[in-house]
Amino acid sequence: MGSFCFWFCFVVLSFASSQVANASVEGTVFINGKVPIGRIDEDFICATLDWWPPEKCDYGTCSWGLAGLLNMDLNNNMFLNAVKAFSPLKIRLGGSLQDKVIYGTEDNQQPCTPFVKNTSEMAKVIFGLNALAGRTIHSNGEALGAWNYTNAEFFIRYTVEKNHTIHGWELGNELSGSGVGTRVSADQYAADTAALQSVVENVYKNVDLKPLIIAPGGVDEHLVEKILDPSVLEGESETFSGLHNIIKSSPTSAVVWVGEAGGAYNSGHHLVTNAFVFSFWYLDQLGMASKYDTRTYCRQSLGGNYGLLNTTNFEPNPDYYSALLWHRLMGRNVLSTSFNGTEKIRSYTHCAKQSKGITLLLINLDNSTTVRAKLAFNSTPCDT
Ligand SMILES: *[C@@H]1O[C@H](CO)[C@@H](O)[C@H](O)[C@H]1NC(C)=O
Ligand SMILES: *[C@@H]1O[C@H](CO)[C@@H](O)[C@H](O)[C@H]1NC(C)=O
Ligand SMILES: *[C@@H]1O[C@H](CO)[C@@H](O)[C@H](O)[C@H]1NC(C)=O
Ligand SMILES: *[C@@H]1O[C@H](CO)[C@@H](O)[C@H](O)[C@H]1NC(C)=O
Ligand SMILES: *[C@@H]1O[C@H](CO)[C@@H](O)[C@H](O)[C@H]1NC(C)=O
Ligand SMILES: *[C@@H]1O[C@H](CO)[C@@H](O)[C@H](O)[C@H]1NC(C)=O
Repeated sequence: MGSFCFWFCFVVLSFASSQVANASVEGTVFINGKVPIGRIDEDFICATLDWWPPEKCDYGTCSWGLAGLLNMDLNNNMFLNAVKAFSPLKIRLGGSLQDKVIYGTEDNQQPCTPFVKNTSEMAKVIFGLNALAGRTIHSNGEALGAWNYTNAEFFIRYTVEKNHTIHGWELGNELSGSGVGTRVSADQYAADTAALQSVVENVYKNVDLKPLIIAPGGVDEHLVEKILDPSVLEGESETFSGLHNIIKSSPTSAVVWVGEAGGAYNSGHHLVTNAFVFSFWYLDQLGMASKYDTRTYCRQSLGGNYGLLNTTNFEPNPDYYSALLWHRLMGRNVLSTSFNGTEKIRSYTHCAKQSKGITLLLINLDNSTTVRAKLAFNSTPCDT
């Protein structure tokens, strides 16, 4: 038998606690390296920038400050360096207000705040379009009628004429499912997405680099207190696996993206979504999304209380480092992984990104139990 060289990198997230752990359990991590179960984009990590103005306040705090799209200081060094560290970072422009924005193109007579764009190589832009244009809002919250894409079409045409490269066009923000405030039926949405598809095909006829069309995501109604409950985290896998099965069994060439996920909508919660504890949820989401073959995961957001960065000084929040670690260590191929000792351990394995071998992510949700993990794996496809 030939010798077997195995490179291996550990990332462990657990509560660093000064108190003496009062319990300890053992278990084995099983990694099936025979064949990858998913494949993420090279630039899987994505963040959103929102339209929210400084006046947007929730739960007694006005969380956005000047971190909204129109006010943000895009020349701030801390901000630029934070984005550059990813090279490239996918950035999705949008959020709830994208469904209220009117683009200042020739069909529109209203005054508009100019929108500044920096076409540098360091980010790929996903633009969220207003999907409520032309609809009437029923008193029960349902949005009726077809999407009026005239304004959006003018805007898309405008970006093409200006040679701006838009990586993807996304229709609407959290309007399907139960929606935040307003919702659009699934049939109507499908029709509107098809309309967007044909608008884009038409406008980009003579353009080599075609943008992606991104269908909307639904609302994430997590209670943040449940972050550390393994059955809640496991329950979320149904969303990912359900979507995965639909895509697999349909004749489309669509791939899955998570367009906006912050764990708690309405600007997040101070001291939760911007705190250390939230990385337990965020890293688990990244792991689970990858496991079900999601290609890109957009985190809400670079600003606000959800933020990867602090709203006022752009200092990285804990999740920023989780995102960066993920970006640097987790390669494209996802390997099937399980742990048998306790359900409080969440485990994910990818081929390593910058070296041979694998990167194993272990998340210990328990705040007082030490877990000893052994490793069992069969051949890995990562070294080839
Ligand atoms: C775009 O960003 C780069 C920094 O990455 C900067 O050097 C350049 O001046 C910016 N361009 C504009 C038009 O602001
Ligand atoms: C759609 O919106 C445009 C403005 O962008 C307007 O001129 C047009 O009348 C609208 N179409 C319908 C059918 O309401
Ligand atoms: C866009 O690119 C085309 C072809 O390279 C060029 O002819 C045109 O002047 C450019 N337009 C703008 C606004 O930069
Ligand atoms: C941003 O940082 C400042 C200074 O450290 C802090 O007082 C503030 O609470 C932070 N803001 C958020 C939303 O975390
Ligand atoms: C986990 O699997 C290992 C290897 O098969 C076994 O020795 C161990 O008893 C299992 N532990 C539990 C808690 O089931
Ligand atoms: C540890 O978690 C339990 C619930 O699982 C909670 O009751 C307890 O307060 C937590 N302890 C610490 C130190 O956070």
